[in-house]
Amino acid sequence: MIYMLTPEREKAKVRTKNKVQTKKYEISDNLRKLGLGKTYHIKTYGCQMNVHDSENIRAILEEMGFKEVDDMEKADLILLNTCAIRENAHNKVFGMIGRIKHMKEERPSLIAGICGCMAQEEGVVEEILNKYKWLDIVFGTHNIHELPSVLEKAMNSRSLEVQVYSCEGDIIEDIPVKRDSKYKAWVNIMYGCDKFCTYCIVPYTRGKQRSRNPKDVIREVEKLKTLGYKEVTLLGQNVNAYGKDLDINYDMCDLLRDVAETGIDRIRFVTSHPWDFTDDMIDVISEYDNVMPYIHLPLQSGSNKILKMMGRRYTKESYLELFHKIKDKVKGASITTDIIVGFPGETEEDFNDTLEVVNECKYDSAFTFIFSPREGTPASKMKDDVSFKEKEQRLYKLNDVINRYAKEANEKYLGKTVKVLLEGKSTKKGSTLAGYTDTMKLVNVKTSEDKIGEIVDVKITNVQSFSMDGEMVE
Ligand code: 5AD
Ligand code: SF4
Repeated sequence: MIYMLTPEREKAKVRTKNKVQTKKYEISDNLRKLGLGKTYHIKTYGCQMNVHDSENIRAILEEMGFKEVDDMEKADLILLNTCAIRENAHNKVFGMIGRIKHMKEERPSLIAGICGCMAQEEGVVEEILNKYKWLDIVFGTHNIHELPSVLEKAMNSRSLEVQVYSCEGDIIEDIPVKRDSKYKAWVNIMYGCDKFCTYCIVPYTRGKQRSRNPKDVIREVEKLKTLGYKEVTLLGQNVNAYGKDLDINYDMCDLLRDVAETGIDRIRFVTSHPWDFTDDMIDVISEYDNVMPYIHLPLQSGSNKILKMMGRRYTKESYLELFHKIKDKVKGASITTDIIVGFPGETEEDFNDTLEVVNECKYDSAFTFIFSPREGTPASKMKDDVSFKEKEQRLYKLNDVINRYAKEANEKYLGKTVKVLLEGKSTKKGSTLAGYTDTMKLVNVKTSEDKIGEIVDVKITNVQSFSMDGEMVE
């Protein structure tokens, strides 16, 4: 090992006053040739942020000469871009590392590494150093732009190279990107999170909140529009707090307006924290036709006691007030949510409070999770006396209610004509293409493949809980 920089949890917690600089991505000429004649394969776990990071990683590797292969067994380089949000995400990655070990035994020239949120965890890197030293590289979320040099070191030394910064660094602009879609694109508007909800590992793995300069975001959206992209999703852990760390008096409302003014067909944004959701934001969403009436508004719990323990800084009442304000002002808005059941100390009564909010909000859909203690977070140290079996039962009960409302929400679309951005082939028999409505409903349509990439009018003929079928309106 030539060089090793491992993550430290205590440092990751710290929020420095250091001014964040914006720098440009650079790669030296000799690194551009490192991958010539070699192939790579990336497995991505977790959220959209990770999906987009993988789009950057793919482009960086291709700039180095590597070629992508679908079959992991045929790759000279395998990277796992990992997620740390819950235990099962961890387990999947360690399962995959086990598979790669066999591949490496048969093919010692294989280079394998992990990156993403798990790489930012002190405990994970310790485990790798103890049990999986045969891996070649570990690099974190803060230094994706350094992948070429980390790879070079690992390829030359043929020993484990760990390069993970505990503290976030600067914002790096112009990292190349190889996007999964030709029609819809992820656009980072900010990195990191300063909310420190007590269950969440993200503030430790993604560092302090850093907003990109608005001009860089707008430039990216304008370029995407020129390239024919129809939809952008503005990405951040907590997009409503955008701009709070910039000293130019410019916030998420300003950004949303400026992005809307580019004229790109569709704009989405994830994820919103109810705490920072202002009335002005609601106005901007309702004002612009190209800002989609789709809002992901995580509830997490409907119990004020649990919300307080989670450090969410809103109450059931203030959440409901915000929810209804959005529904009243944004015509036909679809609102989805995230809910955690079985948080430490959650009683049957607390869980019923959550059900009560769900029954009132009748969400269009929801992601539901059982609380998973994450090492180093305050909630992982809280007394938890609810059995896992009980938590599972709460999850099933919640999912039943959620699915019922999802179907009801979809039923309102029956017979209506909606706009759908056709993204690609449908997996459903009898349909050819699939795409999403303004409100993020999946629609299967029978039409010709040359319509891929177009926003078309579709009449809804059939609905299920998670998708709909429709016919083209010519
Ligand atoms: N356990 C269970 N679910 C979690 N989430 C975040 N951290 C945890 C955890 N420790 C859920 C939240 C969040 C979503 C992305 O994942 O609901 O909104
Ligand atoms: Fe995304 Fe969070 Fe998972 Fe990291 S831990 S990949 S930020 S969901």
